[in-house]
Amino acid sequence: MSLQTGPAPRKARPAGRVEFRQPLAVPAFGLDSSPMPRRLAILLSGRGSNFEAIADAVTDARIPDSVIVAVISDVPGALGLQRAKERGLPVFAVGRREFASRREHERAIERILDAARPSVICLAGYMRLLSPEFVGRYRGRILNIHPALLPRFPGLDAQRQALEAGEPISGCTVHYVDEGTDTGPPILQRRVPILPEDTVESLSARILEQEHIAYPEAIALVLTKLPTDT
Ligand code: GRF
Repeated sequence: MSLQTGPAPRKARPAGRVEFRQPLAVPAFGLDSSPMPRRLAILLSGRGSNFEAIADAVTDARIPDSVIVAVISDVPGALGLQRAKERGLPVFAVGRREFASRREHERAIERILDAARPSVICLAGYMRLLSPEFVGRYRGRILNIHPALLPRFPGLDAQRQALEAGEPISGCTVHYVDEGTDTGPPILQRRVPILPEDTVESLSARILEQEHIAYPEAIALVLTKLPTDT
């Protein structure tokens, strides 16, 4: 484990975890100071493998004392939503097309979140940009996972970007969400070497394996820093 504050390294380094130490500005809420389970909300749009990794980590207490209070998708047919339903979790399909504007769609999600009172909101393959209003409402409590060593290769097709840039190493980053695209403060990274024979598919698969380790670790880390009544 080592600290890293500047841009992701260009030189090859062994695969492994990189943890960032960030001050967390989180407003305390709730009046009861007795220990309560941490409440996780998940937003997803697709297959939901990161959601499943998080749910498994909640079940076997790698994310200790926690509960998933809402799994929300903007894609009603998302496989991840189906997987959450099979696990008996509270699922919410909030289809984009049912709303006249992006902001109205977000407001519907906000209503669900405000009822579910999550400690943190985990974006797990959520493919819609969040407005500054949404980010501001839950600032410091929205997490995302990105399949590259940010700040290298933000945005779509990060694995392809890394391959085409001829990088010797890539990986994944769990970070807080701010108003930019994948620009929020990093929490934890895991590195994955890029092999000469790699394709986008093979690299993506190896990065995904590391995502499934990194996201639960990062959530557990963030929860230790939250006020006990959050
Ligand atoms: C992952 O590669 C994640 O890094 C990115 O979207 C993908 C989601 O995959 N943000 P899954 O739906 O969790 O399987």
